Amino acid sequence: MCGITVRVGDGDAVAELLGGLENLEYRGYDSAGIALQNDVGVSIVKREGRLDHLREELDSGSLHGSIGIGHTRWSTHGPPTDENAHPHTDCTGEIAVVHNGIIENYRELREELQADGHVFTSETDTEVIPHLIESGREEGLSPERAFRRAVDVLEGSYAIAAIVDGTDAVFATRQGSPLVLGRGAQKYFLASDIPAFLEHTDEVVYLKDGDVVRVETEGYTVTNVDGEVVTREVERVDWSPEDVGKAGYDHYMLKEIHEQPTALRQTVRGRVDSLSNDVDLEAFPPGTFSGIDRIHLVAMGTSTHAAMYAESLLTENGVDAGSYLAGEYATAPPPAGPCTLVIAVSQSGETADTLAAVRSIQGTDVRTLAVTNVVGSSLTRECDGSVFIRAGPEIGVAATKTFSSQVLTLSVLAERLVRDITGHSIENTGSFFEALSRMPGDVQRLLDDSSARSLAEKYLGSDAYFFIGRNSCYPVALEGALKFKEITYEHAEGFAASELKHGPLALVTSETPVFAIFSGGDDDTKTLSNVKEVQARGAPVVAVASNSSREAIEQADDVLLIPDTHPVLSGVLANVQLQLVAYHAANELGRAIDKPRNLAKSVTVE
Ligand code: G6P
Repeated sequence: MCGITVRVGDGDAVAELLGGLENLEYRGYDSAGIALQNDVGVSIVKREGRLDHLREELDSGSLHGSIGIGHTRWSTHGPPTDENAHPHTDCTGEIAVVHNGIIENYRELREELQADGHVFTSETDTEVIPHLIESGREEGLSPERAFRRAVDVLEGSYAIAAIVDGTDAVFATRQGSPLVLGRGAQKYFLASDIPAFLEHTDEVVYLKDGDVVRVETEGYTVTNVDGEVVTREVERVDWSPEDVGKAGYDHYMLKEIHEQPTALRQTVRGRVDSLSNDVDLEAFPPGTFSGIDRIHLVAMGTSTHAAMYAESLLTENGVDAGSYLAGEYATAPPPAGPCTLVIAVSQSGETADTLAAVRSIQGTDVRTLAVTNVVGSSLTRECDGSVFIRAGPEIGVAATKTFSSQVLTLSVLAERLVRDITGHSIENTGSFFEALSRMPGDVQRLLDDSSARSLAEKYLGSDAYFFIGRNSCYPVALEGALKFKEITYEHAEGFAASELKHGPLALVTSETPVFAIFSGGDDDTKTLSNVKEVQARGAPVVAVASNSSREAIEQADDVLLIPDTHPVLSGVLANVQLQLVAYHAANELGRAIDKPRNLAKSVTVE
């Protein structure tokens, strides 16, 4: 799990490579480095730790060059040290390589290369690549042929970029890891993700697995696995550079929490038609899913909670649906056949566990659908169809706006599925469409009036934080706890409200606040009983509820109020309050909110 940047063109590359790495730090940040091609050969600077360490080193202005490759790392092989930081080189230091992903057969390759006399200086899997290119060069191959031959023997998933001394070009390829090309004025970029170069160009080329691209100041050439020149369409992205800045907020996470009204407006725009009383899901007209009788939702992390939310909505409306941790599904998939639809939910579309779940059923007659934020991501290419959540880029490691957009997208999709499979409609359960359309405004009102900050301060220093909910509020309890632990490093756990008395109650004391989420529906009564159980053990209860849950509000010690909405959507609003509680608690504790320790935005290893 790492970020790659490449810059080729007129002028000096250093500042643009560093800027690109800064925008990719969310992909990993335990070490960073750059390599430049210049008149003295290939020059490299790399440092353990945050990008600032590298920046300080480069501030001396000692490094120049118009062609360069950069890398920000999140360790998989070998600890974060200067030696293990990328770029990696061959024995001569004339070839430099950056890599994202895993080379599965690196041990065999390393042994063979060492037997041939190659000397390794790091513990990484990546280092085999420059040595493989070097051996091709020793046999007289051109840099491009040597690069291609090196790539041919690699097994695993990777995006790779390389420079070779004396050649004014960058060679790059991808296989199972993201790599996009940016076309600017007299310069070109390659990166693991678009924000790396968005301030320089919005024209992008999504490379496909197996593509090899040669980028020079004059232009670029893409060839496929067989070495044939291929045309890849240039597309324009509509993300503005401001979209990837903090826009005055202290943290990306807070900015992204506040972007939710806009994100949700984009998510539902054109998809819900209260007049025709139907949903419009682009490529999925009515009847698309008529033959389906079972839904499997697969995802990891926050996306799992969105998947569970959809499971609850579907099940409640008569559709046989189950959600699974993708990593588990990949190794032990439940029975599935031609009438099963597998929905893979992933913000990034690059999570290795989720891709593995989809791959585990590839080649069978099971239909697959990606629900993701990233157009052109690996998941979209591997699934039969895709629905985009349209949340815009999310930089904070802790997912916020993308959870809300996932749930709303899945809610619209659920309506299509319920109609196609059962002939009924969620809309008939009462103003569901109106609630979906009102959601951006409801979130805005909540953000304007939230008392989450003072509440977070009040309970700071507690022994642990518990979150409970039932039905669609159960995944919100899990998500509330996940957000809290991810960024505060405090002990937080989510439970189904019914489960609390079957064990976790032993942990409940006056020092463990319990956040109880109320939907405003029929299930409130039972959740209220659970609230009384924990209060009887001295725990303070924070009700996250709307005015429809009057009894809960009266019973609770504190309240985080949410606007009234359809009960199945209350959880989305409750979750925004819990995002704010987690944020303010972490801020008070001085945590690295956007880059919590040990975590990465997108985990591309299983
Ligand atoms: C990582 C991130 C989580 C995210 C999960 C799934 O663990 O830290 O925030 O929810 O990956 O990511 P995805 O991109 O598949 O939604």
